[in-house]
Amino acid sequence: MVAIAVGLGALLLRAAAAWHPTPHSKAPNATAGEELFERAVAAVRGCAAQDDAYLSCALGTEAGAWDFHFHRFGPAQITNPTGRGGQLTLVEGFDVPHCTSARAPGRRIRRACPLAPRGFNDTEAVLLTHPWGGNFQHYVFELLPRAWLAAELLRRARPDDAEPAFVVHLHKYRRTGFFADAARLAVGTEIELVVDQEGRGGFRNVWVPPYVVENFRSWSALGLKALRHMHAKAQETYVTRPPRPGTIVYFTRRDASAGKGRALVNEAELIEALAGRGARILDFSAFPTLGDRVRGLANYSVVVTPFGAGFANLVFAHPGARWLSVCPPTMCNSHERFFLDQLTSALGFRTGVQYTAATAARAVNDGGGGAGDPKNVPYSVDVPAVVRAVEGLARS
Ligand SMILES: *[C@@H]1O[C@H](CO)[C@@H](O)[C@H](O)[C@H]1NC(C)=O
Ligand SMILES: *[C@@H]1O[C@H](CO)[C@@H](O)[C@H](O)[C@H]1NC(C)=O
Ligand SMILES: *[C@@H]1O[C@H](CO)[C@@H](O)[C@H](O)[C@H]1NC(C)=O
Repeated sequence: MVAIAVGLGALLLRAAAAWHPTPHSKAPNATAGEELFERAVAAVRGCAAQDDAYLSCALGTEAGAWDFHFHRFGPAQITNPTGRGGQLTLVEGFDVPHCTSARAPGRRIRRACPLAPRGFNDTEAVLLTHPWGGNFQHYVFELLPRAWLAAELLRRARPDDAEPAFVVHLHKYRRTGFFADAARLAVGTEIELVVDQEGRGGFRNVWVPPYVVENFRSWSALGLKALRHMHAKAQETYVTRPPRPGTIVYFTRRDASAGKGRALVNEAELIEALAGRGARILDFSAFPTLGDRVRGLANYSVVVTPFGAGFANLVFAHPGARWLSVCPPTMCNSHERFFLDQLTSALGFRTGVQYTAATAARAVNDGGGGAGDPKNVPYSVDVPAVVRAVEGLARS
């Protein structure tokens, strides 16, 4: 298995040699999603005129890939049966276990399912959940834009209606701090948690917003618009000055230790070299709240991080920052690069995410393996090559 993974790594490394390691610029895109959003507002207005137990509002189609449906379920209770995510139980007689899946949100299911207890009141809710639990990157790229979209669409389409409750799937221990703060920023108001819904009366209607991104695959313009607004709001709220030129921060990936998959085995050596050039060494968990994170990131003009979920922090970073991804030999393909280019362009970054040259990293056969994914091989980096790339960015 390891031999296969390393062999695959070598193969991909050769294929990767054609990538450009040099910084590139991308024009900011301040209009992504605008037109589609206006069409979606009109669609929700039309949709709200109906009064079924189950509505599927078609918000529009985006060039090819994306079809958007904003679902509304009639009298329903939000439950948390497995602890993995929120689920709806409809009072009127259908159960909707699939309401959280990406491609078929809210299929109408058999009527034979158990009924939720009566006792719902006249309040509406938006259910914000995802089927993969609390993984950071999924939360930022998938849940938050849906939260913004649901809140803004309903506000725009129904300015005279009461605000719904925004019920977010979060672990109990995340009710304070970054995750809850980010959800509040997305919806622009207070949130409730799925874990607190047990035993409560149901809601008159529950809305389930569409997915607007496929993790590291493609964006819908609606998702880009949502994150652009959240990003701008966070910067306005917390940041008073741009990063000072030449300030460098390195975010560690200590959690992926050797043998656990995609570990940077000589990270200690890289850290020492970067610290020697004045870089701060931090962990993203050093920022317990959203404000800490946004202000903390805005202190640095060069952000260096190993490839991974840390990219989602682009949404909280200053658009003047330059990001360098230390690339494992089997990662950072053109697909993921395009995905991040679109994001940084929509957020108004002057430069996108940049990558260390493919030759700066090599797979290491240390007896560890690709945890889950054969591309997750342990690797080491050419420290002087990474330091040169960082110094180049710090001067630019
Ligand atoms: C901005 O994004 C939209 C997608 O919403 C795309 O159609 C358009 O070409 C982009 N413009 C630029 C300058 O990248
Ligand atoms: C309606 O239900 C929601 C959620 O269960 C609850 O927060 C709210 O207080 C209830 N309102 C009334 C008037 O009972
Ligand atoms: C950012 O700068 C502020 C003000 O100088 C300082 O209080 C804070 O500790 C810094 N945070 C980080 C993470 O560098």
